[in-house]
This record gives sequence, C-alpha cells and structure tokens, in this order.
Amino acid sequence: MDLKYAVFALVLVVYCSSFQETDIEPPYVKFCKRKSCLPVQNNSQVLSYCQRKELMMDGRCCIHYNGTSNITLGMDLSNCDIEELHAEMFAAFNSVEVLMLQNNPFPKFKAMHFVGLTNLTELYLPLLNGTCPGGNQSWESIEVQNSIAMCFNEEDTCKSHNLTCPPNAYCTTAGPGSATCTCVKDYYGYKCMRTGHFPMLVYTVSAAVGITTLSLFLWLMRRFNGTKV
Ligand SMILES: *[C@@H]1O[C@H](CO)[C@@H](O)[C@H](O)[C@H]1NC(C)=O
Ligand SMILES: *[C@@H]1O[C@H](CO)[C@@H](O)[C@H](O)[C@H]1NC(C)=O
Ligand SMILES: *[C@@H]1O[C@H](CO)[C@@H](O)[C@H](O)[C@H]1NC(C)=O
Ligand SMILES: *[C@@H]1O[C@H](CO)[C@@H](O)[C@H](O)[C@H]1NC(C)=O
Ligand SMILES: *[C@@H]1O[C@H](CO)[C@@H](O)[C@H](O)[C@H]1NC(C)=O
Ligand SMILES: *[C@@H]1O[C@H](CO)[C@@H](O)[C@H](O)[C@H]1NC(C)=O
Ligand SMILES: *[C@@H]1O[C@H](CO)[C@@H](O)[C@H](O)[C@H]1NC(C)=O
Repeated sequence: MDLKYAVFALVLVVYCSSFQETDIEPPYVKFCKRKSCLPVQNNSQVLSYCQRKELMMDGRCCIHYNGTSNITLGMDLSNCDIEELHAEMFAAFNSVEVLMLQNNPFPKFKAMHFVGLTNLTELYLPLLNGTCPGGNQSWESIEVQNSIAMCFNEEDTCKSHNLTCPPNAYCTTAGPGSATCTCVKDYYGYKCMRTGHFPMLVYTVSAAVGITTLSLFLWLMRRFNGTKV
C-alpha cells in the first residue's frame, strides 16, 4: 500500500511539474493582463488605433465586442520584459491587427513565432537581425525609426513567396512568412498522397530563409511524429 501511494505521489509530482512548465494562465490573461509590463504609454500605437476605432482598452489589449465574444484587435506588449518568443505564441489571437513588441529584451524572432497572425496591419519590433518576420516581401512596407522596426500591412505568404503546395493540397497564409498546405477533401497523409475519409492534415511551411526554415521543419517533424499520422 505504501508503494502504491509512493507511485501515486510520483505520478502527481511529474504531472504537477509538467503542468507548471506549460502555462496554466489562459492566453488572454497572460497577454492582456500581463504583470511584467510598464504602463501603456500615451503614444502607444495600440491605444491610438483603439481610440480611432472607438473601441475599449482592456489592460494591454484593444477589444471589440461582437455581440457574443470579445475579439482582440490590438495588443501592446512593448516594455513587458519579454525575454523570449515561442512558436505560435499568438495563435489564440488571429484577429489582432496591431501588435507592439518593441522595448523587450528578446534576442531574436522567427516567422514561426507569428503563426496565426494573418490580419496584421502594424507590427512593431525591436530592431534585430532580419527587420520583419518573413522578410521584406511579407510586408507592403517597412520602416525603421529609433531602433524600432515597423512592418505595415502583411502580405499573403502564398502569393508573396510564390509558394506551391504538393498535388491535392492548397495553400493558405498562416502569418507573415508562414503558410499552410491543407490536403483537399478525401486526401490525407504527408504530402496528401493517400485517399479516403480521414482527418485533414495540415502542415506549415516557413517561407523565411535559412535557419528559420530548418528549425520550423524540425519542429514540424516533431509535430508529425507527435501526432502519429
Ligand atoms: C499621458 O497622459 C496623461 C493623461 O492624459 C497625462 O497626465 C500625462 O502627462 C501624459 N504623459 C506624457 C508623457 O505625455
Ligand atoms: C463573434 O466572434 C466569435 C468568435 O470569433 C464568433 O464565434 C461569433 O460567431 C461572432 N459573433 C457574431 C455575432 O459575429
Ligand atoms: C468582454 O470584455 C469586457 C471588458 O473586459 C468584460 O467586462 C466582459 O465580461 C467580456 N465579455 C465576454 C463575453 O468575455
Ligand atoms: C481579418 O480581417 C478581415 C477584414 O477586416 C475580416 O473579415 C476577417 O474576419 C479577419 N480575420 C480574423 C481572423 O479576424
Ligand atoms: C546579423 O547577424 C550577423 C551574423 O550573425 C552579424 O554578423 C551581424 O552583425 C548582425 N547584424 C545586426 C544588425 O545585428
Ligand atoms: C528590407 O527593407 C529594409 C527597410 O526598408 C532595408 O533596409 C533592407 O535593405 C531590405 N532588405 C532587403 C533584402 O531588401
Ligand atoms: C512562381 O513560380 C513559378 C514556378 O517556378 C513561375 O513560373 C512563376 O513565374 C512565379 N511567379 C512569380 C510571381 O514569381
């Protein structure tokens, strides 16, 4: 019986520590109610966007209530002491149009961090190697001012990078510099080579160059292995 409890306790510890590693805070609280930030500045582009649209700020975020739910359209995460970005960290916020990330100590960014953000009209980043995610062709225009990179009007990655998906798959943009090839109905499997009624398989390709492509590829392979397709 002691052994049983020991095993139980061990499982619980493992479970709890893995739980702590991942995030228990819902994404909205994690970003919009973020505690590590300086107050939103008067000259915040999210604030002025929100006033222009006659919407409401809730913490760091500009919110539109559509009758049933709150849609996040702007997010000011400048001066928030963000030390690192994570893959798909904004995936729950695919409606965001204005995103501010300047004045944070993260040392780099990659296209995969912005997966899910398909509606960006303004993105502000610290000036790092590679001015805007996905490169210049992912944006209608890019400006640099006071060590801030400003990326305006995201382009459709499928078009801007002239991407072609494998046969039986179609391309949709997944964010600046990333796109998804989705198997058409009745096709499935890696590269959509098999037919039958199976869940659709989605895979993401990064159109950014070099290390980004490689790391996203590796990440994808992990994902494939993980889902055992
Ligand atoms: C920001 O706005 C507040 C309220 O309008 C004002 O009191 C404050 O002086 C402003 N700060 C700066 C730096 O402009
Ligand atoms: C409001 O947004 C939610 C989430 O995107 C959506 O499911 C819902 O249909 C929208 N409601 C209206 C009235 O547009
Ligand atoms: C929408 O946001 C407002 C302001 O934060 C909040 O009071 C309200 O409960 C939210 N509504 C929903 C449906 O989440
Ligand atoms: C992106 O913007 C378009 C046009 O304003 C809108 O119709 C669409 O619903 C938006 N997409 C998301 C994911 O919010
Ligand atoms: C960009 O990266 C290269 C190689 O890592 C480095 O030599 C160069 O100084 C960097 N440029 C900037 C502006 O950080
Ligand atoms: C991308 O745009 C920036 C800012 O306009 C410019 O400095 C840079 O040279 C461009 N890079 C390429 C590869 O065209
Ligand atoms: C896209 O790629 C195809 C095949 O490589 C080529 O024929 C076509 O001209 C390219 N289009 C653009 C806009 O670059």
